[in-house]
Amino acid sequence: MSESSPPRTAPSRTRPVGTPAGGVLLRSLTGLLARWLPSRRWYAGKGRPPGGLTLLSATELLPCGTTGPQPGLLHLLVRVGPPGPRIAPAPGAVPGDADGEGDGDCYQLLLGVRPSLPPHLADAFVGTPADGPLRGRAVYEALEDPRLLTLLLERLRAPGALGALRFEQAPGAGIPSGLPGRLLSAEQSNSSVVYGNSHILKLFRRVSPGINPDLELSLALTEEGGTRVPPPTAWFEADLPGTSEPVTLGILQPFLDGSRDGWHLALSSLQHRTDFELCARDLGVATAEVHTALARALPTGVLRRPQLEQAAAEMSQRLDAAAAAVPALRPHRAELRRTFDAVAEHGRRGGRLAAQRIHGDLHLGQVLLHENRWSLIDFEGEPARPLAERRSPQPTIRDVAGMLRSFDYAAAQHRDPGPRAQRWARLCRDAYCRGYAEGGGRDPLEHPELLRAWETDKAVYEVLYEARHRPAWLHVPMAAIRRLAEEAAA
Ligand SMILES: Nc1ncnc2c1ncn2[C@@H]1O[C@H](COP(=O)(O)OP(=O)(O)O)[C@@H](O)[C@H]1O
Ligand SMILES: [Mg+2]
Repeated sequence: MSESSPPRTAPSRTRPVGTPAGGVLLRSLTGLLARWLPSRRWYAGKGRPPGGLTLLSATELLPCGTTGPQPGLLHLLVRVGPPGPRIAPAPGAVPGDADGEGDGDCYQLLLGVRPSLPPHLADAFVGTPADGPLRGRAVYEALEDPRLLTLLLERLRAPGALGALRFEQAPGAGIPSGLPGRLLSAEQSNSSVVYGNSHILKLFRRVSPGINPDLELSLALTEEGGTRVPPPTAWFEADLPGTSEPVTLGILQPFLDGSRDGWHLALSSLQHRTDFELCARDLGVATAEVHTALARALPTGVLRRPQLEQAAAEMSQRLDAAAAAVPALRPHRAELRRTFDAVAEHGRRGGRLAAQRIHGDLHLGQVLLHENRWSLIDFEGEPARPLAERRSPQPTIRDVAGMLRSFDYAAAQHRDPGPRAQRWARLCRDAYCRGYAEGGGRDPLEHPELLRAWETDKAVYEVLYEARHRPAWLHVPMAAIRRLAEEAAA
């Protein structure tokens, strides 16, 4: 079979974990994976070797033990122990872990296996096991191999179980066969493969039991008849021993060909001095429509005095933790606390705040403009937060605040982040809030003190993130912190 021809769906099997075969397989791969994982963008313990590996499931999507030229495809779920000491800290970074890696993160790996690697796959090389069932074979990142990508799509075309894995499809999915796949090279916390410009497969890397909100919310919005989210075409999950809920592993969705994300459009508007207010307004409308549909489709709640007081206390705690790590925050602590007090005060005055499922990590990079219409993507929430928290009802104002912060980031990223860029951000922020109210959402400016609190909470998170990972960007959220503190003082 030639490199470009679509592979046949070959017999596959699962190597039961806990059997001698599973143990031997893992032992033979442990050293290679421990060296390879820290270099992956999606590995949370960046730059640090994993503490230990446990195999949770191993499934041969394509046989790996044959002697012919046919590549094998091995699907692994591995639990990675707490990482060891950092190998190379970012220059000027403060110590700590913003990515929430901890005891036993679970990762999804897709490994190709060949007798030897052709030159075009040299960069994908993981290693050659010295013993075990794959002894002497080249093991590599399967997603770099176009031939294996096409095979993976074939697997998604065939619903059903395979070992611990279960493949599902939406009714009438109609996934074409033999589409060529290419791995997106974007800086991502997951891995995405585009198939023939008609579909995109997102493979979650760090996974945990329970439906991933990206799948849960996309399915719920599709059932509601929403058109602001690419509807899931197919997806796959794993049922792991000892867990009551399946682990979501990947989602295939229509690819919005020719779309551009909000971040690049915003930067282009700043650079070419073109209008973005109309876009920002439409984005507000789209956000409100998605919120309305989510409130209809999934459980909602109400935050009253105790919950609002607790929310304010948690914001203050996050501020204290961030200020302990980032001295620049300390002079502003008193004003920022006052901002958070406004949330508790709202509750004390008998005010309420509706809670519902939200996007959870809304920013300009999570919205795509396709044929003049905004779609929202990536409903995973903030991957660093626990799944149970991400799946709980929250105030919609959190999403609004996230998008407002994003306009600020875009303005600061512009090569001239002076008054003109700041005015651009202000106009976009106002237009977005206006659109949100026009689209049926509750006017975010009705309670500016609440909006300020959630924006401040987000900016505090950004300060800690930038201080740890991108110290050169720290000035962006710090400028917002100063502005928000001044507003609170006034
Ligand atoms: N349905 C889609 N159509 C077109 N491009 C998409 C689609 N879904 C995702 N993308 C592209 O892939 C990128 C990453 O997708 P996303 O779901 O945000 O993954 P991650 O969780 O890794 O951030 C997006 O920024 C966008 O450029
Ligand atoms: Mg994303």
